[in-house]
Amino acid sequence: MIRAWTRWLLTHGLPRTYLRFSAHRGDPLGQIATGEDRLLGSSPYIEQIRRRGRIPRMSGVHVTADYELCRLILRDRRFGVVSPDHRALPKPIRWMLTKTDLGLPNLGEPPSMLVTDPPDHTRFRRVVGQAFGPKAITMLEERIGEVADELVERLKSNPRPNLISDFAAQLPVTVIAEILGLPADMHSTLLKWGDSGAPLLERGLPWATYRHAVEDLVEVRQYFDRYLDGLTAEPRDDVLSMLVTSEDLTRREQMANAALLLDAGFLTTVNMLGNGIVLLTNHPNQLELFAADPGLWSNAVEEILRYDGPVRMTGRVANCDVDIADQHIASGSLVLLSLAGANHDPAVFPDPEQFDVTRDNAAEHLGFGSGIHGCLGARLARSEGAIGLRALFERYPDLSLNGPPIPHPLRNLHAYRSMPATLGAR
Ligand code: HEM
Repeated sequence: MIRAWTRWLLTHGLPRTYLRFSAHRGDPLGQIATGEDRLLGSSPYIEQIRRRGRIPRMSGVHVTADYELCRLILRDRRFGVVSPDHRALPKPIRWMLTKTDLGLPNLGEPPSMLVTDPPDHTRFRRVVGQAFGPKAITMLEERIGEVADELVERLKSNPRPNLISDFAAQLPVTVIAEILGLPADMHSTLLKWGDSGAPLLERGLPWATYRHAVEDLVEVRQYFDRYLDGLTAEPRDDVLSMLVTSEDLTRREQMANAALLLDAGFLTTVNMLGNGIVLLTNHPNQLELFAADPGLWSNAVEEILRYDGPVRMTGRVANCDVDIADQHIASGSLVLLSLAGANHDPAVFPDPEQFDVTRDNAAEHLGFGSGIHGCLGARLARSEGAIGLRALFERYPDLSLNGPPIPHPLRNLHAYRSMPATLGAR
């Protein structure tokens, strides 16, 4: 555990102290990072960032809530991803990070493709890309519909269901487990691992949270080690078999990306469904529009992702000196991109605080990121959102929430932990 503690100190403990200090001094970025800001893209903190310029420097890093700049930087190969040992860190800290590598399938550390730059990133993404492409997902839609209908029907037996644990979490975990080929009796364990692993995408975690995540990652590694060995001996027709049969990937790379696909496959989708349920129950006038035009569900999912997408922020590191919007960004500098801010940028989305499922350009949101790291599962998530929310609201048009849902303590993912509801008359 000493190695884990040292690693925690370097990747979370020290940033935590610094960000708390910044927050205390009134720095909006520190306040967002330490969770004092619980609001959406419209929050006063994001407005403060916007007021300071298009890409101001705050708490020692550049930050932008400007749509064009976020999109530009996400697509600009002069910027790379932020891995824990990114170039902005002093050399001794990077050395210590190499020495404390825990060898666990942590989705926020290389070789997870999310935090790996080309050429390795290209190699990883090529192996699984097709399995999440339009053709593959269209073929899955019937199955997504069956799973959604079953879950919606099962809610009836519970007079006071929790729409997160009984519905929003179940749909994506069932679908991604089937895509990966993992057995149905693993669902509750996968959800537990997802719950403890999600915070690893944040910075500044308390030691207890980090230690719990690491303990669960040891279980994940043991499970996948055995499971991938079995698949190597007898590959099947699923995505994990694609990973293990690829001669291009080492076992560690296979495992890290298997764990990433699993977690990314449900963590954010749960929250898109949850956030969508809150928005739609709070906007009954919007719900009425679907009766006349059920085709609107797809656009509604885009508007949910724009208005209250689960992933609020991402970051990039400049690989060289870059001049952008009259700012000089020195090589090695960190740039934080507020996706929530970009999605509420009035220059792109007129009247951005209006939740409007008919919005023409809702699909231009950056809720799935953009560029080479743009969400691999975007197509799948969109289908799960449209099919799942439609099934729920068509079956229970009088659905209502029993008071405000309980927010998740995660800072970068905007999410609800619990959502007790009443299903209504039908
Ligand atoms: C509504 C649900 C989802 C949201 C909001 C979402 C959001 C995102 C975002 C913002 C990124 C880019 C992060 C960055 O550039 O730093 C990303 C990447 C990724 N997402 Fe999703 N995601 C969702 C669902 C899914 C699903 C269902 C999968 C299933 C496999 C998935 C797999 C991935 C993977 C593998 C990456 C890394 C891609 C790369 O680095 O090339 N996501 N996602």
